[in-house]
Amino acid sequence: MDSIVVKGGQPLSGQIQIAGAKNAALTLMPATLLSEEPLTLTNAPRLSDIKTMTALLQSLGVEVTAMKDGNVQVLSSHALTSTTADYDIVRKMRASNLVLGPLLARHHQAVVSLPGGCAIGARPMDIHVTALEALGAEIELKDGYLHAVAKGGLKGAKVALRFASVGATENVLMAATLAKGTTVIENAAREPEIVDLVKCLRAMGAQIEGEGTSTITVEGVDRLGAASHAVVTDRIELGTYMLAPVFAGGEVECLGGRLDLVGSFVEKLDAAGVSVTETQAGLKVSRANGRAKAVDVTTEVFPGFPTDLQAQMMAMLCTAEGTSVLEEKIFENRFMHAPELVRMGAQIEVHGGTATVHGVDRLKGAPVMATDLRASVSLILAGLAAEGETIVSRVYHLDRGYEHVEEKLGAVGAQIERVTG
Ligand code: EPZ
Repeated sequence: MDSIVVKGGQPLSGQIQIAGAKNAALTLMPATLLSEEPLTLTNAPRLSDIKTMTALLQSLGVEVTAMKDGNVQVLSSHALTSTTADYDIVRKMRASNLVLGPLLARHHQAVVSLPGGCAIGARPMDIHVTALEALGAEIELKDGYLHAVAKGGLKGAKVALRFASVGATENVLMAATLAKGTTVIENAAREPEIVDLVKCLRAMGAQIEGEGTSTITVEGVDRLGAASHAVVTDRIELGTYMLAPVFAGGEVECLGGRLDLVGSFVEKLDAAGVSVTETQAGLKVSRANGRAKAVDVTTEVFPGFPTDLQAQMMAMLCTAEGTSVLEEKIFENRFMHAPELVRMGAQIEVHGGTATVHGVDRLKGAPVMATDLRASVSLILAGLAAEGETIVSRVYHLDRGYEHVEEKLGAVGAQIERVTG
């Protein structure tokens, strides 16, 4: 298993190119199942999760051609051979459950393994199931698999999500594009990845309104056609690299960064005394003179503070001036990075979904262990600020969501290397 070794104390300077969004690509790729025509995705990120989704779609008979080292994906599902998503793939990546809605919509059947829990929570699928049943699907849980059928196809309906689940919104939205009649999704997720999915579905011929608001209306159509779509910038990778100069000092320009993607995150950076400047090419961040200030953070659905940036923010607040309180309201177990940061000298008390961080002057490098995707990158960021050497093990978590971290940070002056082993 690879590790990443970071030596702290080197101020950063330069530009980091932000990639296409993992969490957009993982819902755009299954959208190919809605049409027999090819779907071309450009600006696709080069990540292990994309490889996992590719393997899943290929197991269903989708032809996937990766070009330009994976930056372009051409997907074609004109000759499906299966409608079953196997446990051995789904358990590795929860987003595999996003084939459920498209398979039901076009093939009127699907067998999708329940993903099982993951490090950050139980991650049930009840909201997905209730929403698809509202469109007429019959879904039964058997041997750990959801067996779903839509006799005569799906029918448009009013769907009220009990919680603005991102994945459930994506599944029911894709299903509704081919359902007979009108579907109104209430309490829909508003994340930029949903907006990006709608742009792509519309290019394929879907009739959708209201994306980015809590109410999305879909007029079902008989079929969808070919499309080419550029994957939206990854707002979580963006937020992650915007924090890098706050840890290490210096200044970094994140190319492709857009303020509308990270509004609530930038508000918190402002409150912490970190200046963010919009440039022609993206967003530039420099360490305020002296230490950042403590701020309180509560994770919420978009446009609130994103849960996927909570670990990175906590790591930054470990050396802020004062005490910060972080509340994690989206997942039940998303503080696993806290004990690892404590190994580096941070002072953090966790009680249930609340973490209290007392800022210290400096962290000290130490061997630490990645536990989930976003926790792993928060430890690397902490290593940029720490005295001495930090060794982050189990970086396969990292490779799921970040392209070549050591290259991107190394190019702006960080002392960082990957040790294979
Ligand atoms: C998406 O996961 C993202 N993944 C997650 O990013 C992100 O953290 C999450 O949205 C929240 O923003 C992808 O887009 C591939 P949810 P998703 O359904 O769709 C509960 C990362 O690091 N829930 O909005 O699975 C659920 O347990 C990953 O890139 C139910 O109870 O998130 C969680 O507590 C991590 N029943 C909360 O809702 C359901 O049927 C939010 O889940 C569905 C969800």
